[in-house]
Amino acid sequence: MFILAIETSCDETAVAVVKFQGSGHRILANIVSSQVKIHAKYGGVVPNLASRMHLKNIIPCIIEADRFASRGYQRGRTRKSVRVDPRSYPRLSASTNIDLIAVTIGPGLIPALLIGTNTAKALAYAWDKPIIGVNHIEAHIYANFVGIRRNNADKNAEITLKGSASNRRIDQRRFSGIFPALCLVVSGGHTQLILTKGHGKYKLLGETRDDAVGEAFDKVAKLLNLGYPGGPAIAAKAAKFKIENLKFKIDLPRPMIHSKDFDFSFSGLKTAVLYLVKDGVATFTSRSDRSLKAATPSICASFQQAVIDVLIAKTIRAAKEVKAKTVMLAGGVAANKELRRQFKKAIKEELPNTCYLIPDTQYCTDNAVMVAVAAYYRLLHNKPQTWKDIEANANLRIA
Ligand code: KG4
Ligand code: ZN
Repeated sequence: MFILAIETSCDETAVAVVKFQGSGHRILANIVSSQVKIHAKYGGVVPNLASRMHLKNIIPCIIEADRFASRGYQRGRTRKSVRVDPRSYPRLSASTNIDLIAVTIGPGLIPALLIGTNTAKALAYAWDKPIIGVNHIEAHIYANFVGIRRNNADKNAEITLKGSASNRRIDQRRFSGIFPALCLVVSGGHTQLILTKGHGKYKLLGETRDDAVGEAFDKVAKLLNLGYPGGPAIAAKAAKFKIENLKFKIDLPRPMIHSKDFDFSFSGLKTAVLYLVKDGVATFTSRSDRSLKAATPSICASFQQAVIDVLIAKTIRAAKEVKAKTVMLAGGVAANKELRRQFKKAIKEELPNTCYLIPDTQYCTDNAVMVAVAAYYRLLHNKPQTWKDIEANANLRIA
């Protein structure tokens, strides 16, 4: 089965073609056209601008995906900017082979979502193909299943792991299924702890009461003049701090780390950094760290560690409470190296019998491969829809 997937929920126009065969799948095309540079000028995503850029890029991305798919397997290849020769417009030959169209219908920015949704509807109508609307959060969760084989023999559609990548730990001897699985979703728009008892079955255990983790990274980066997106910039400064083994450490709060629920709050942490910047770092720092510039790596490392401590503490506690067999990480912030490292370490130490899954870095941030995989697993418990059934919903909930 060939799935053509489209993702336009925020500032990446992404199109993928994935072939599912037997219990495995192959990524035939993975096109991501990022608008990061365009939005960077404004310090964050401008929804109407994102919409215009999706409109400009979506057809070239589809053509590019089609070109890759017809050429065969191009492993994990992505292109940051896509230029397509208009003479190649009539190609779209893969349309004859596509069995299903998958599209992100929400949550996200409505002007952005509408472009992908409408394009997918038009293709489904023109090609007379079934279509599946995918929840963006669910797609992020299914980034964990990219490259994992589904065991066809098992009616419950459990999955087995082939090989053992370092970001996946499943003990084959003790393996008795992935579910119940606990997923920590950390993206630019969401911070949620989700319990899943099987494909498509979700229960929200907790979520942020204010800023999402990625949003907090972006806002703190703005305060420190590090540009947009803030996550990678803060991670780089924090790594510098670690490499140089600097002694000074700013003490930042760990909001809600001891609260009995599984909710989060990150706006206070951002405000703590704001005061640090406003009141002058000199009051907080040692003699050698008096300027904001000199203190930036230290602030970044402290901020990042405060976030990681809260995320890991709550995830471990929730995993123990629900007796999770697997713990998964998902969303753009899951690309953060320190979070990935400490997440693995904490599970190994505190939950030695629990599996963990962390997506490959390229599938953490927005892409369409995860949308195709989520749609594939949706087919296990949902009938495909028609173009008439599909609507974008900015506030779509997973549970
Ligand atoms: O999942 P995503 O691509 O888009 C949404 O669905 O929101 O996540 C984007 C977010 C941004 O806030 C970005 O700053 C953050 O993910 N991010 C990171 C890293 N890479 C991306 N945050 C921390 N460390 C990173 N390495
Ligand atoms: Zn996302």
